[in-house]
Amino acid sequence: MSLETRNEINKYLVIFLDITNYCNARCRFCYNYSNLGQKPVNMTINIFRKAISFLPFVPDCNFFLSCRYEPTIHPEFFVLLKEIPSEYKNKVSFTTNLVKKLSREDIITLTNSNVHHINISLETFNRTLYTHLTQVDHENFYTNLENIAGVFSEYPDAPKINFITMILNDNFNELVDIITTAHKMFPCSSHHLRTPYFGITDSYKKFLTDQLLTKECLDNKKEQLLDLGNDVSLDTSMNLDTYNQILSGNAKPSSEHFHKVRIESNGQMELYGEKLDLGAIDNPYSYICRYTNMLKSIKGKKVYLFGAGFVHNVWMEHYSEGLDVICVFDNDESKWETVSSSGLPVRSPSELPELLSAGDRLIITSIYHKEISNQLKVLSIKDYFVFVDSWIYPREN
Ligand SMILES: C[S@@+](CC[C@H](N)C(=O)[O-])C[C@H]1O[C@@H](n2cnc3c(N)ncnc32)[C@H](O)[C@@H]1O
Ligand code: SF4
Repeated sequence: MSLETRNEINKYLVIFLDITNYCNARCRFCYNYSNLGQKPVNMTINIFRKAISFLPFVPDCNFFLSCRYEPTIHPEFFVLLKEIPSEYKNKVSFTTNLVKKLSREDIITLTNSNVHHINISLETFNRTLYTHLTQVDHENFYTNLENIAGVFSEYPDAPKINFITMILNDNFNELVDIITTAHKMFPCSSHHLRTPYFGITDSYKKFLTDQLLTKECLDNKKEQLLDLGNDVSLDTSMNLDTYNQILSGNAKPSSEHFHKVRIESNGQMELYGEKLDLGAIDNPYSYICRYTNMLKSIKGKKVYLFGAGFVHNVWMEHYSEGLDVICVFDNDESKWETVSSSGLPVRSPSELPELLSAGDRLIITSIYHKEISNQLKVLSIKDYFVFVDSWIYPREN
């Protein structure tokens, strides 16, 4: 399949894909534990091809082949990997628990894959603790790890290895050893350590209460871990004190872990609030253009905006210069026939079909873009773009 190369890549776009919805481990710390028992659905190659058609839009390292589940158990995992075009090697990564036994041939395939890096989840080198935490036998994990270290050392162009280690009460005193041992096995590796995400299901809550460290304890350890070098990064945002504050309503959980562009293994996708079924769409590429291409070939066109609130003002400030912006539509009746704070006439959306001609540019400038998209569907208007406030859009000369 040929993928078009586009320039209008947006640095904020991140795609979280899951090629399967199943996992072969049952880690006690897993934030996704309650979803692990569902009927397995593996992504078809057809849907995978559609998903990777988004690659041209994604900045380096922002396309994740696994997010909540275990990718290596997909029966055609290595077939799917081969579908990733070499020109996008810097964009793709996946995270694995290494629980499934990998042959030498599998590992050689990994060295040649067009993947920028592989995240390996590593909580401990203590086999008893490993089995306790993951609830699976330790043999495959440690054998895979050693075999990968051996084979990857023979292939200098193999993907980079990044370790992810949860910071838990159970492995707290081992963290320094985990980092140094992993780095000895993979001298070019990086290491990310994180405290568990927030969650409140009964079993997870109990786990967190037992395993979270106090802020003081984490602060004391930080320096020691960062001093190891070895490309160590830390996220210690969740501690026992913060967790209790959130539970008692005195603090809010961070929402940064809840992703905007997700593709499920069955092809269901959510793109900035818009639900899509990749299996049912012929050209998914055109959907993403709606969010990325609002300025493409806009010069000389009549421009109409939909949404006269805060996002509209941001758009006007950053993008209106030199453009022929005619008016803004808004659902708030009290604004109709007035002039917006940006100086544009505000009109009722009922006037839209009459005013809009082929070749004009309609851009939604509102946080309610999902609802407005539905409204436009009812009006049979398909040709429109959405401005995502947090993005920076390159201008055309
Ligand atoms: C959910 S897993 C999916 C990929 C794969 N199954 C694995 O574990 O490597 C993705 C990453 O999230 C980490 N993780 C699991 N539970 C977590 C939690 N409660 N908070 C933060 N990260 C977590 C895992 O250790 C892993 O590195
Ligand atoms: S291996 Fe990953 S997805 Fe599976 S239970 Fe552990 S953390 Fe969750």
